[in-house]
Amino acid sequence: MRALLGGVRTRAAAARSISGAEDDGRMAQSIEIPRQRFLETRRRDAWWASPLFTIVLLGSFGIYAFWVALQGSYYYGPPGFVSYDALGRAVDGPYLSPFYSPLFFVKGWPFSPAFLILWAPLLFRVTCYYYRKAYYRAFFADPAGCAVGEPRHGYRGETAFPWILQNAHRFFLYLAIVVGAILFYDALLAFRWPDGHGGIRFGFGVGTLLMLANAIFILVYTFSCHSLRHLVGGRIDCFSCSQTSRFRFKLWRAISRVNEHHGFWAMFSMVFIGVADVYLRLVATGRIIDLHWIF
Ligand code: FES
Repeated sequence: MRALLGGVRTRAAAARSISGAEDDGRMAQSIEIPRQRFLETRRRDAWWASPLFTIVLLGSFGIYAFWVALQGSYYYGPPGFVSYDALGRAVDGPYLSPFYSPLFFVKGWPFSPAFLILWAPLLFRVTCYYYRKAYYRAFFADPAGCAVGEPRHGYRGETAFPWILQNAHRFFLYLAIVVGAILFYDALLAFRWPDGHGGIRFGFGVGTLLMLANAIFILVYTFSCHSLRHLVGGRIDCFSCSQTSRFRFKLWRAISRVNEHHGFWAMFSMVFIGVADVYLRLVATGRIIDLHWIF
């Protein structure tokens, strides 16, 4: 420790100096904190558990989603129920995998139709504030945890390319709202079952309930977005001055409530997409028999 007058001074590249002054200003003192090497820490708790969990969860989901998108098959079910999709095409069953919704085809497109749509929800999640924190910590260890050595010592935030592109999050939010609404519509279509004589009857199965729950969880995640909260309640000076501002206040308060749990909804809705798809894929391939009731 060394006494310094006049503030903070860095002594060497390997050390930082923090200075403090007594209230009367007569004396200032500095405390030298050794600069930590990458991943060096004095923490004794399991600080590595959270980033490791994130790597396993996001990594597994990413690999599974890519594999599903590559397949280009078995995204309708159950087999044997000739149904009609939103565009009037004859397809199997009323179920549709969330990785293929909204489903559309482009003439001459050589890949699976999933790649035509998956980029939108993917970029929405990649630019989400919560996921940013999670994967910066887990995949870039930047930092891996509080008081854990970082890989770099300069911090520029997200002010330069490519991270500045994260600011496009709001635009992916608009797309995500549309995709969420279509997923919900798909779930409603899954209540329409073919009666075998060219007609439609009301019914539902385990797949219908999974599709409905999946759409709701995705919408809750989408509507808990920080950007949406700002869009609804930001840039306003008075919440009680007009009917519109009072309405915005109510909306902002409702969004704030779910926003408190945004991280949970981000992860939970993602895991549920995987669960719903695994079930629908097993039904579509005939590996399991779907339980359903037609009235
Ligand atoms: S901040 Fe996470 S979805 Fe917008």
